[in-house]
Amino acid sequence: MSSNEILHSNLSDNAGEETRRQFSYMEKAESYVKELSEKLGRKPTACVVTFGCQMNARDSEKLLGILTKIGYEEVDTEDADFVIYNTCTVRDNADQRVFGRLGYVSGIKKKNPYMKIALCGCMMQEQGAIEKIQKSYRHVDLIFGTHNIFKFAELLCTMFESDRMIIDIWKDTNQIVEDLPIVRKYPFKSGINIMFGCNNFCTYCIVPYVRGRERSRNPRDIIREIEYLAADGVKEIMLLGQNVNSYGKGLPEDEQMSFAELLSEVCKVSGIERVRFMTSHPKDLSDDLIKVIAENEKVARHIHLPLQSGSDEILKKMNRHYTKESFLKLVDKIRTAIPDVSITTDIIVGFPGETDNDVDDTIDVVKKAAFDNAFTFIYSKRTGTPAAAMEQVPESVSKPNFDRLLKVVQETAKQQAQRFTGQTHRVLVEDINEQDSSLVTGRMSNNTLVHFPGDASLIGSFVDVALDECHGFYYTGHAI
Ligand code: SAH
Ligand code: SF4
Ligand code: F3S
Repeated sequence: MSSNEILHSNLSDNAGEETRRQFSYMEKAESYVKELSEKLGRKPTACVVTFGCQMNARDSEKLLGILTKIGYEEVDTEDADFVIYNTCTVRDNADQRVFGRLGYVSGIKKKNPYMKIALCGCMMQEQGAIEKIQKSYRHVDLIFGTHNIFKFAELLCTMFESDRMIIDIWKDTNQIVEDLPIVRKYPFKSGINIMFGCNNFCTYCIVPYVRGRERSRNPRDIIREIEYLAADGVKEIMLLGQNVNSYGKGLPEDEQMSFAELLSEVCKVSGIERVRFMTSHPKDLSDDLIKVIAENEKVARHIHLPLQSGSDEILKKMNRHYTKESFLKLVDKIRTAIPDVSITTDIIVGFPGETDNDVDDTIDVVKKAAFDNAFTFIYSKRTGTPAAAMEQVPESVSKPNFDRLLKVVQETAKQQAQRFTGQTHRVLVEDINEQDSSLVTGRMSNNTLVHFPGDASLIGSFVDVALDECHGFYYTGHAI
């Protein structure tokens, strides 16, 4: 997508003190980029590489906002003058991918004496990763973490002023810095952080350690940002949090608001036509929330409801605070109140102590809940989490169980997908189809992909599409 949009590219009138400080660093950084551009005889280029979840994708838009503001030109490839990797560490393979890229980019840096390489994001909050980079990846110029990403402009200045590897990692923060520049990937849709961090401490999960304690953004700031986005042409938004259902905890008394109330307020913003959210923890999805979704056409017919396991014993060891039965009851309640909803999930196989019988329970839930889709993961041991100290399951047990589960997940998803054939659904067109340029690709309210004949003029608009044929995970159809 080439038509990037800059949000808050100038200092807003109600900007806080830290935001003002960072804008002054942006001015300084701009002069360094200008110097570089004179040396190179062209505009310097920057590439942001993102790993991980929607939170990281949103953070990358913030990084790009600053890079663009100080004079870099965005490029998609890593043969750039500035490359930053926004890392994820939720599973070991995410870490390995980053090390792989670092090896690759060192070859590019050898040919470009002005090139700078930076690392940020969740993996940088782990001491072990930093030590490994200091030892084996000396060509990295700048490292920072998740809590001080708002200091990016300031850190860039430090980087330009030094030849040494700059490392700035904070253990935690209670700061939320608003109104910094953002470059959106899509002109017509956007993610919005409503909260940061996580307090749930599921025993397998590293996120609470690398993203810190849960902090909710003030509802006024959220609504103000959404109004701004709507005025700028955004039609679909996704409210982001590790567990949106606990939104509002810790807000000052006069600003108290539940997630259900926030969602209902967000739907009132004119211009916003579709509202998604991610992720909902099954332990505290309220009846109020189900009601707001059911009564509000604007809320997407899609709930991502991570199951993780269907075994009561494993759920307990995972610290998930629900049972197989209460999960199934919740799914039932949601499907009764919102019949056309899609429910998707995440499942982990191979958690410490998991037996074939436990996986039978998980498979039973998949069948009964009839998930529209499920992301399945093999458990990955994360240093420092409680589960890392438990007795691990050998691959000879987890791998066959994973394959068995995946088969049922795919069958269920395929069956579920077909249920909309012949109906007409509103589709937000996102792009030209990659394989066939006579088609465009968009998403239904329930997040299912639809391909139908059309051209680039439709991108960013809602079209009513008759769903002619289901091809497993997507539909083909025609506009009506
Ligand atoms: N906050 C979200 C999940 C964020 S992580 C939630 O609670 O649902 C996304 C998914 O990664 C999780 O749902 C889980 O299925 C998976 N995951 C997290 N830690 C993992 C680990 N150590 N090994 C394998 N998968 C893991
Ligand atoms: Fe991790 Fe659990 Fe928090 Fe999700 S809710 S981020 S799985 S600790
Ligand atoms: Fe990964 Fe961090 Fe998201 S660990 S999944 S990028 S919160």
